[in-house]
Amino acid sequence: MEKQTYSLLFLDGDGIGPEVNAEVKKVISWLNDNTTYTFSMDEGLVGGAAIDAEGTPYPNSTQKKAKVADAIFLGAVGGPKWADVDFSNRPEQGLLNLRQDLNLFANLRPAFVFDCLQEASALKAAYASGVDVLIIRELTGGLYFGEPRGLTGKEGAREGFNTLRYNEEEIRRIAKFAFETSRKGNRRICSVDKANVLESMVLWRKVVNEVAEDYPDVELTHMYVDNAAMQMVMEPTQFDIILTENMFGDILSDLSASLTGSIGMLPSASLGLRDKSGFAKGVFEPVHGSAPDIANKNIANPTAAILSLSMFLKHSLGDITTARLVVSAVQFVLASGVRTSDIMEEGCVEVSTTEMGNQILQALDQILAMQKNAS
Ligand code: IPM
Ligand code: MN
Repeated sequence: MEKQTYSLLFLDGDGIGPEVNAEVKKVISWLNDNTTYTFSMDEGLVGGAAIDAEGTPYPNSTQKKAKVADAIFLGAVGGPKWADVDFSNRPEQGLLNLRQDLNLFANLRPAFVFDCLQEASALKAAYASGVDVLIIRELTGGLYFGEPRGLTGKEGAREGFNTLRYNEEEIRRIAKFAFETSRKGNRRICSVDKANVLESMVLWRKVVNEVAEDYPDVELTHMYVDNAAMQMVMEPTQFDIILTENMFGDILSDLSASLTGSIGMLPSASLGLRDKSGFAKGVFEPVHGSAPDIANKNIANPTAAILSLSMFLKHSLGDITTARLVVSAVQFVLASGVRTSDIMEEGCVEVSTTEMGNQILQALDQILAMQKNAS
């Protein structure tokens, strides 16, 4: 029998992070009670919360726990409270250190429109209908990590600089990851670059084409990032998988969120290489940020965080059935007209963060009961 016991680390972070993660913990407890899994749960500090407690956004204590955990559920980091802390010690740095430290080079950000939320999209319903894009973002290279970097010079002659640099191995492993993912479902990849201007992106395109030779069954196209941004708004349904470098992926994934109505709906998974058993360790987190303006009000949408848990089940454990169960429960609740404030519509019922979590648990119970009756 495959391993069924996994240690989960919760890094709630800042703002609404603890509130949305609390709802994920409820779903984990439900899975402990109702499936063959045993998930243990531990806690650690990251971001602003860690700066306040330990003076650094990624303390050693967190690093130690992160290294041994099977999966990490991150809430969110950052907020105005830490706006003035030294650049190298900002809350965001905690997240970047974590990604780099665990070598989580592949970031998956699906953007999809639930049928019942079509009206919430920034697009007309006719364009939003059927949007189902997976952005695969390279996460540990490019401008975010390239050296040299810095801020130098005296007043009047100051310079700030970063380096966009990729080596072929970094490009190859994310391209392979995208092609392998593509084979599990969507057989079209659009690789997004800026090969008309940047040498790093010339290499990107070459290496992606080389990798493609091993996957003749997968359709590959290329697009410049400026055009891709336009196409994502004009005709989003043309995309299945978008494969792109770190910063382009950061920008395009926020854009894709606007297509889906609320950034409060979108999950993400950051994965490393799979071990021999096929298991991939990762960080699972909502795409949204810490939203300090709505923190501690019990109104944040926990859906993105809960769907991130379903990404853990699917992408780390390869358990499509349980992953679908969680997605179905979310769908069930939305279809019944229950909404958090960010996706509230006329004729629906507005609920709090905790109530949304409770409704999802109830839906899980109901779906499970229906499945038992059917079998
Ligand atoms: C994201 C965030 C992060 C990023 C920040 C918080 C470092 O915007 O996950 O998209 O830029 O990667
Ligand atoms: Mn971002």
